[in-house]
Amino acid sequence: MKIVNGFDLMDYAQKRNVMLPAFNTTNLEMTKAIIQGLNSVHMPGMIQISSNNLHLSDPETIAFLVNKFLKGTDTPIGLHLDHGKSFEDVKACVDAGFTSIMVDASDQDFEGNIAEVKRTVEYCHFYNIPVEAELGAIMGKEDDHVSEADCHTDPALVREFVERSGCDLLAVSIGNVHGFDVKPKVDLDLLKKIAEVSPVPLVLHGGSGIPFEQVKAMKQYKMLKINYGSDLRSAYIKTFGEAYEKNHKEANLFGLCKKAVENVAKTASDLVLIINDMK
Ligand code: G3H
Ligand code: ZN
Repeated sequence: MKIVNGFDLMDYAQKRNVMLPAFNTTNLEMTKAIIQGLNSVHMPGMIQISSNNLHLSDPETIAFLVNKFLKGTDTPIGLHLDHGKSFEDVKACVDAGFTSIMVDASDQDFEGNIAEVKRTVEYCHFYNIPVEAELGAIMGKEDDHVSEADCHTDPALVREFVERSGCDLLAVSIGNVHGFDVKPKVDLDLLKKIAEVSPVPLVLHGGSGIPFEQVKAMKQYKMLKINYGSDLRSAYIKTFGEAYEKNHKEANLFGLCKKAVENVAKTASDLVLIINDMK
């Protein structure tokens, strides 16, 4: 298949009442594994890369790999910019063929966040590409990016933010965190309040470590997309760590990369099946 448009994926998920998994990639093996994992369980979703990872793997390289690994598959998969940190990254990803975009200006004040999202929306909508925005910063660690800020999304600001910025999806801060260092404390009542006023579907960041029952309960509160990064990265890193622990002379890089792809693909497909009650 070819990379699928983000609006079409949102439409698919809403019609079938499923949550779209969005998995973070970093390199060739992660990209291959995520596509393999989604395709093996025939669950549409997104492969995404964050702005900080683009310094290692640029948008063209990732888009090239995604197109290559999608050949012969039959599961709709989109390519998403995660935590887009600059307008330059947004434009580079759109040019490279990404099919949905997140602009993360949650570290700015309310007006600054709206202005940044609005100009991204104006640009992306010209190409029929949906834009995800974030209101309320999410605490934790995303690879080498650390955020100390923990500003829960204020339901009183949601409608105005969405209407003025024009975003198509809204990432919320409801006690979810990035990475494994801080324990998530999800506030479902807060999510319910946000869902009641949000004109657009919601996105959960920091999927790794959130109890599955809580994730499933979020479906009734407009949660349409869920991001998983650390669970997959950990499966990847463990493959090499365990092999090295067993044998300090281990040098079969090809064998370990292959094993890492299998482990990450299995982690991704298991997550997809569980959160959508397919297992
Ligand atoms: O944007 C990426 C995600 O929010 C990943 O979070 O690493 O905690 O699963 P996670
Ligand atoms: Zn995130």
